[in-house]
Amino acid sequence: MKKLLIVLVIIFVGIQFIPVERTNPPVTQEINAPEQVKSILKKACYDCHSNETNWVWYTKVAPVSFLTASDVKEGREHLNFSEWDRVKGKESKVKEEIWEEVRDEKMPPWQYRIIHSEAKLSDEEKNILRNWAGE
Ligand code: HEC
Repeated sequence: MKKLLIVLVIIFVGIQFIPVERTNPPVTQEINAPEQVKSILKKACYDCHSNETNWVWYTKVAPVSFLTASDVKEGREHLNFSEWDRVKGKESKVKEEIWEEVRDEKMPPWQYRIIHSEAKLSDEEKNILRNWAGE
């Protein structure tokens, strides 16, 4: 039992040395949206869909760091409110997608909502996003 514990501690310490990329690249173009909409996106989406991720302490501790870094990497690839120039010409379609994800409670992801209670959107906040998306 004691041996197992020692092995686990060694593994835990060991994985801390595996490099994890926690970047916040420059903002190329911030999304242009009403302040009300932006504040909702900021508190519920920006950690994974912007270049202004708040890398809190536990995102620096393996193995949580592996999961958060990969969520952010993938999230930014799909949608990045800090690189809004990438959606030029497709803005209304992207807004529609955003609303659909929120409506179906797929975004923000459930595991994120458990830790970040402020990311649980109220009906009123959802309505604000729906109106903004033009649905
Ligand atoms: C914990 C990280 C995280 C948070 C917070 C988060 N997302 Fe995501 N989002 C992802 C990941 C990862 C993907 C890509 C994989 C997937 O679709 O599940 C994604 C995909 C998306 C997509 C694209 C779907 C597609 O098919 O391209 C939309 C739209 C989206 N998110 C909207 C939002 C909105 C709106 C919020 C805030 C209300 C939000 N997300 C919050 C991680 C996150």
